[in-house]
Amino acid sequence: MIVCIPKVLSAEQVTTIRQHLSATDAPWVDGRVSAGFQGAGVKSNQQIDEASSAAHECQQIVAAALERNPLFISAALPNRLYPPMFNRYSEGMGFGLHVDGGVRLHPHTGEKFRTDLSATLFLAEPSSYDGGELQMEDSYGMHSAKLAAGDMVLYPATSLHQVTSVTRGTRLACFMWVQSLVKSDANRTTLFDLDNAIQKLNQTNADAAARRSLTGIYHNLLRQWSDV
Ligand code: NI
Repeated sequence: MIVCIPKVLSAEQVTTIRQHLSATDAPWVDGRVSAGFQGAGVKSNQQIDEASSAAHECQQIVAAALERNPLFISAALPNRLYPPMFNRYSEGMGFGLHVDGGVRLHPHTGEKFRTDLSATLFLAEPSSYDGGELQMEDSYGMHSAKLAAGDMVLYPATSLHQVTSVTRGTRLACFMWVQSLVKSDANRTTLFDLDNAIQKLNQTNADAAARRSLTGIYHNLLRQWSDV
């Protein structure tokens, strides 16, 4: 399931992050530092040094915004969030087709982290650059996302995906992974659909006992499918 989450960040938060990332001393490094064997050959971009204070300040803003975003929580059912990372693609840069690594080491704790979902949070207005589309493949074909600054796309980390070459301007973005309470994309999608239906019914005068029963089913499926 691919889900677009609008307005994860306010315009002010986007501006603050951009200021951190555009500071003259912002520590940009070659993006291949975090790529695996498959990614390194097709990756051409820059990333902010994960251990820098600029990265830390921006990570706090994004993580806090996601913690209180109901759509993100309902769609991702997050267990743990990998510290968000920040990248930029200037003219001529792109990232060819690849699948993200299945298990990463958490940069702070060294613990193994299973990447169930990948997310890209756009930080540059789409009109400010050409190219730089995120393309994700699922069983229905290839899907493209190039969203407004502050909006995020969430997709299964199992997906083959790429970022097309930037031909004008600079594509600035934040990307991260989520280890979900529910490993299976199909099960997560069922829970998301059920949650949406229950939320809609709760805004109507639908039968209270039936709504209570559906809510119980939601939680019992979550209990059955989650690993914590
Ligand atoms: Ni990727």
